[in-house]
Order: sequence, then structure tokens, then C-alpha cells
Amino acid sequence: MLIMGIETSCDETAVAVVKDGKKIFSNVTVTQIPYHRRYGGVVPEIAARKHLEAINSVIEEAVFRADIDARHIEKIAVTVGPGLMSSLLVGITAARTMGIIYGKPVVGINHILAHLYANFLFHDLGPPYIGLVASGGHCDLIYSTSHNEFNVLASTRDDAPGETFDKIAKLVGRPYPGGAEIEKIAKSGNPDSFEVPFPKFKDNSNDFSFSGIKTFVKNRLKEISSDKIPDLMASFQKKIAEIFIDRILKAVEEKKCMRVLLAGGVMANSYIISHLEEECSRNSIQLFIPPPEFCTDNAAMVACRGFFGGGNLLVPQPDLKICKK
Ligand code: KG4
Ligand code: ZN
Repeated sequence: MLIMGIETSCDETAVAVVKDGKKIFSNVTVTQIPYHRRYGGVVPEIAARKHLEAINSVIEEAVFRADIDARHIEKIAVTVGPGLMSSLLVGITAARTMGIIYGKPVVGINHILAHLYANFLFHDLGPPYIGLVASGGHCDLIYSTSHNEFNVLASTRDDAPGETFDKIAKLVGRPYPGGAEIEKIAKSGNPDSFEVPFPKFKDNSNDFSFSGIKTFVKNRLKEISSDKIPDLMASFQKKIAEIFIDRILKAVEEKKCMRVLLAGGVMANSYIISHLEEECSRNSIQLFIPPPEFCTDNAAMVACRGFFGGGNLLVPQPDLKICKK
């Protein structure tokens, strides 16, 4: 089945054409980052306007690169949430219009699940699995037993991990988005230099929390000389990896599920990935990750999710069940 995926939830206008959730015919992503950078983060009003300016040509380009006739697209999958409402509406309107013109079904896709499904573009596997999506706006640990069953085991109680990278990058004078910037600085640092606190909850929950870590880094930055910044960044990054593996191991144990899928922009971080790979192999856990360019927002993942499932256009977060203990 030939599916067009449309993604406009944040600061990338993306359209892809994917066959059977696997074969990527085209995958076009136009980033808005240069327009948001001067504000240090995504400005919703600018995001929506830039999506509106770009969407038609990105659709055209995706059809052109796929070398197909748009009439041959059999289904349109569009991100309906979570994300910036005014930006989502641009993608949804484009998808519905295409659906009406070509008489094709349009399905609403959950952005977090789309991230997870980036794995299925590259790896031949399926549920059950534990999925960890760590991005600029989210941190969700999900247990999936089928293509329509997703249970959220834990999520962040405050900042998302990508957001934390972005905020810390700002503190050290690096541009948005900060993840790759911090990764670069951390390369020359010693990850064991600073004892970054590990977040803990009174109720022993498996949830995530990153704002305490951000405050710790902020306070240390006031005390240290600039030559110690790489050490602090490396220690911060290591703690993020340790939090991820702690939560993964607990979920694996609880669900007796040895297959783990990673997704989301933060998983483009090669230090974090190698840490998780090492720990998972030590614990005989099968670990799957999409290539880095498919960890960040793209539309191929949306099309892939559209092949396996997808829901109503009017439901902001289709498919996800919150069932934390
Ligand atoms: O998944 P994504 O593209 O968008 C959302 O759905 O939020 O994730 C973007 C986030 C940004 O916060 C960015 O700083 C972070 O992913 N990111 C990284 C890296 N590359 C992108 N974080 C850590 N290390 C990276 N190499
Ligand atoms: Zn995303």
C-alpha cells in the first residue's frame, strides 16, 4: 500500500511517500530552525506560518521524488497530535484536501507512536516491545503488545530530555536546537567529573524528571571556569543515558519483554546510544534504533505508522493509553 505521510507538529515541514510501511520512495523535510534560532526555541506563530508557506511545495517535491502519480497514493497519514495546534492544522488541512481531491482515506497519527514506528522502516520486527521515545517535547516509556495497543508506563513530570539539552545549550551560549551542540562539547569532557543527581520520586515511580538536573547544571555553571564546561556537559549527558537505562531495565523486568525500541530526537545522540547498547547487550536485551536522521522529526515515520494503524482525525492523541502504575 502506497501511503503519503505528512508531519507538521513542530518545526519541520515534512512529507514522505512510503510503500507497505517499509520502502521509502521519498522523504522530504524542510526545517524551520533558522527562523526560530534567534528566539532560542520554537515560536508557535512563526512555525504555523512557515508550515503554511512550505506545505504545498513539500508535497509536490515528495510526489516528484517518489516518481509517482499522486493519484496512486492509497492513503494519507497525518500527524494530529501531540504538537503545536496551529502547526498541526496546516498538515491536517493539507491531508484532508488531498483526501478529498483524490478520494483517498486520511488517518490521524500520534506523533509519539510515529517516532517509534521509524524503527519498523528499518528493522523487521513487531510487538511486543518496550519503546522509549525521548524528544524535544516528550519522554514516554511505552509497552506495546500489538499495533493497536500502547500502554504508557512512564512519562516526564516536568521537562522533556531534548528540552533540557536545549535549555542547557542556551546557558552555555549555544544555538537552538542544543542536543547536537552539547554532544559536540561533551566529546572532549570527562563524564565522571561531576556527580549529577539522579531523579527520584517519593512514590518510587518509574516516571522521568529532568528539571532538577537542569538546575544542577545551571548552578555548577555559575561556579566553574569555562575549561570545565566540557566535563560538566559530558557528566550531564552520561546521567541522561543512565536514567534511560534505569527505566528501560525496570520496564523489561516488569513486562518480561526483552525487546526495546528507541526513538525521538535525543536518540540521535551517539554517546547515549552507545551507552544504551552496551548496557542492553550486557543484559541480553535486543535493542533497535532508527538511523539518526530518522530519530528526529520526519514524515516517513508517520507514513509507516499509517500502514500499521492510525485513528480519527479529530482525536488529538489517538491510540495511546495512559496506564501508569
Ligand atoms: O524528535 P524531535 O526531532 O522533535 C520533537 O518531537 O520534539 O526532537 C528534537 C529534540 C531537540 O530538543 C534536540 O535538541 C534533540 O532532539 N536532539 C538531540 C540530538 N539531536 C537532536 N539531543 C541530544 N543529542 C543529539 N545529538
Ligand atoms: Zn518528534
